[in-house]
Amino acid sequence: MYSDKVIDHFQNPRNVGEIEDASGIGTVGNAKCGDMMRLYLKINEEQVIIDCKFKTYGCGAAVASSSMATEMIKGKTVAEAMKLTNKAVMEALDGLPPEKEHCSLLAEETLHAALWDYAEKLGIKIPGLIRSVQDIEDRMVRELED
Ligand code: FES
Repeated sequence: MYSDKVIDHFQNPRNVGEIEDASGIGTVGNAKCGDMMRLYLKINEEQVIIDCKFKTYGCGAAVASSSMATEMIKGKTVAEAMKLTNKAVMEALDGLPPEKEHCSLLAEETLHAALWDYAEKLGIKIPGLIRSVQDIEDRMVRELED
């Protein structure tokens, strides 16, 4: 049912924890199941994500997605991290079962929430940053329809 990568990231999740002096923190609940993720980002003056940690109170697919997402954004610029989608996270995990695809959304939504927090603290705008979870879900529906 799950790929080896999903099982590996679920059993040995990377970057679990908190960052005390985080540049941005995002917390998002999954409307479908009530599970929750919190992401901490440490971003330097060049807008490079130098560290990130997460806590997920969710299913195995959500833990694996969060773990993979943190690996994919660490060392990336904010602009590069903005390109991370739940689809890319799923691909990196060699796929998720269809009924678990929504779990990977938590990682993308929480990343955007943490970046929003970072941008608000600095009083800057991040091009393409979507605030609401609904906007992301609407985009997913559009992608499915295409
Ligand atoms: Fe809740 Fe997967 S079932 S995040």
